[in-house]
Amino acid sequence: MNRFCARTLGLALFAFLVVAFAVQPAMAQQDQATIVHHRLIPAGDTCATCHKVIYDQWKASPHAANGVQCTVCHGETTADDFAGMPALSTCATCHADQVAQLKSDPFMKGKTCVSCHQAHIFAEHQKAAPKGE
Ligand code: HEC
Ligand code: HEC
Ligand code: HEC
Ligand code: HEC
Repeated sequence: MNRFCARTLGLALFAFLVVAFAVQPAMAQQDQATIVHHRLIPAGDTCATCHKVIYDQWKASPHAANGVQCTVCHGETTADDFAGMPALSTCATCHADQVAQLKSDPFMKGKTCVSCHQAHIFAEHQKAAPKGE
């Protein structure tokens, strides 16, 4: 290898290391979000910016009225335990009776809470309309 070649190689290596060290912390920061889309959340955006329909459903629900935020059920988007489908234990912190029934009642076998309560609306079932209406 001649001298020119060695110098070019050295420079290239140096440049690579500079870039690698500069970029690495930024990548570590972004990798914290579990969902790829959540790594790119622009500053100032909220859950509602991208999940408008869900936000509106939630806003009209008893959960919003009682301050049960998105992150109470899903966790922070950057957290290891961020969950697309919240665990039953999450519901159990506030609805212990219903969770106990889901686990023990034979009729509930194979069901989850969202089998009967649509997520985010989480309304109680409407009673069937009386006959003739
Ligand atoms: C910049 C846009 C953006 C923002 C802001 C954003 N999300 Fe998302 N999120 C997405 C996209 C895109 C997906 C994937 C498609 C989908 O499931 O809707 C997603 C998926 C999800 C999922 C489903 C994950 C899964 O495994 O199915 C949950 C739960 C979620 N987001 C919650 C939140 C919460 C809570 C916030 C606020 C703290 C938030 N998101 C903010 C874009 C965003
Ligand atoms: C009371 C708990 C609870 C709260 C509060 C809640 N979610 Fe969810 N979310 C769920 C459950 C349960 C599912 C799974 C639904 C399913 O699989 O049918 C879900 C699913 C999702 C999904 C992915 C599936 C889909 O329907 O597209 C997104 C995105 C999401 N939630 C965003 C949000 C956002 C944004 C908020 C706040 C505005 C929020 N959630 C508040 C319980 C909750
Ligand atoms: C931090 C507490 C909290 C958590 C966690 C929570 N909820 Fe709730 N939930 C509430 C409160 C408060 C109400 C309103 C209760 C009331 O009005 O009596 C409610 C109401 C409900 C209702 C009844 C809605 C209606 O129209 O009366 C359903 C169904 C429900 N939650 C399902 C769930 C499910 C499923 C989960 C888990 C994915 C969950 N909740 C997680 C606090 C919580
Ligand atoms: C097989 C369908 C079904 C499943 C599964 C189900 N529920 Fe319900 N839930 C109902 C019906 C129907 C009502 C309204 C009638 C009543 O008061 O029992 C209700 C009412 C509720 C209420 C309102 C308070 C009350 O007891 O009247 C809450 C809170 C609730 N459910 C939470 C949950 C949670 C949390 C889960 C999961 C652990 C769950 N439900 C699973 C059918 C279901």
